[in-house]
Amino acid sequence: MKELSRIAEAVQASTTMAIDAMFKQMKADGIDVIGFGAGEPDFNTPDNIKQAGIEAIEHNVTRYTPAAGTVELRQAVCHRMKEDCGVEYKPSQVVISSGAKHLVYLALRALVNPGDEIILPAPYWVSYIELIRMVGAEPVVVHATEAEQFKLTPEKLEAAITPRTKALMINNPSNPTGMMYSREELEAIAAVCLKHELYVIADEIYYRLAYDGLKFTSFAALGPEMRELTILVNGVSKSYAMTGWRIGYACANEKIAKIMANYVSHSTGSPVAISQKAAAVALSGPQDQVDVMCKAFEERRDYFVKRVNAIPGVSCIKPEGAFYAMMNLEQLIGKTIHGVEITNDDVFADAFLKYGLVAVVPGSGFGAPNFVRWSYATSMENIKEGLDRLERFLAGE
Ligand SMILES: Cc1ncc(COP(=O)(O)O)c(C=O)c1O
Repeated sequence: MKELSRIAEAVQASTTMAIDAMFKQMKADGIDVIGFGAGEPDFNTPDNIKQAGIEAIEHNVTRYTPAAGTVELRQAVCHRMKEDCGVEYKPSQVVISSGAKHLVYLALRALVNPGDEIILPAPYWVSYIELIRMVGAEPVVVHATEAEQFKLTPEKLEAAITPRTKALMINNPSNPTGMMYSREELEAIAAVCLKHELYVIADEIYYRLAYDGLKFTSFAALGPEMRELTILVNGVSKSYAMTGWRIGYACANEKIAKIMANYVSHSTGSPVAISQKAAAVALSGPQDQVDVMCKAFEERRDYFVKRVNAIPGVSCIKPEGAFYAMMNLEQLIGKTIHGVEITNDDVFADAFLKYGLVAVVPGSGFGAPNFVRWSYATSMENIKEGLDRLERFLAGE
């Protein structure tokens, strides 16, 4: 048999999905496990949005749409971005596709030539590193420590730039850390990007989930020059509990938006017509449900952080957005729990699932060894039980 694509064969399975699959299998086998691996809200899509999808089917909105998405949805994106982020785009600068994940891929496709370098701050969302490799670019990982609040500093960014650097990939608020950059922090990063004319792929999918009254700043809101170099990636999955509808959007300068739309037209053809109708209602209709979900996530975060920090051997810094927290395991490394020597985060996650019956995601897949990620997009009851189990597990019970 002839060799398969080297690029395709090098792609690694997503660690978040692998843990989720293992957890689902245990659950299917009747084992009482609790999962903290999933990256999706546990809420249902709000009724008015579901209704829009039902009506779309009933009114035969079941055909191809323009490759970049319907004008109605692109206008709704422009409205929402202006309202929430203070950035103005024209519908011709917006591309809709099957989820933000696909738009990150399209953004990279639009920018990258073989051998280009993309700067990727760690901890990073697992898919980024694979997506960068999938388009033939090289990820240049820049580590941000817990003491730095897991945030890229302008100094570290500057030090990582070479003549081959094409872009910076930034996720704000972050999966997996939950940290959010302030406007000042973003401005300092943007100054370096402008100096070196770097493009920025800014994945802001968690922008509506910001806590403690903190104000989110979009990368594209940092001035016209920065906006020209920014490809904003966003979507309806997290803000409106619409992960299965598969609608994301990107906003960029017209040239880049057109290139991305051309890719869509020859690959997926167009996004799902029915989902686009529902997404348009999500973005232009009442927004109160988003605030209800955000409030619930904030309460869970408060409970989670307080309890973790009261358990000997583990700790976590307080996330400011999204629905993830990184639990620090450094003090457990070298200890034996349930007869297992905890040598790293993978071993911990494996033992915790086997003996504690709790699924969390090892940090190594995010470029954050000795941490595990908990997603608190699950009920308060589950969070309480999960942390009770953590206590018992660490006590060897
Ligand atoms: C940082 C980040 N970007 C993008 C996505 C994917 O979003 P979508 O469902 O729109 O593809 C996720 C999902 O977990 C994510 O965490």
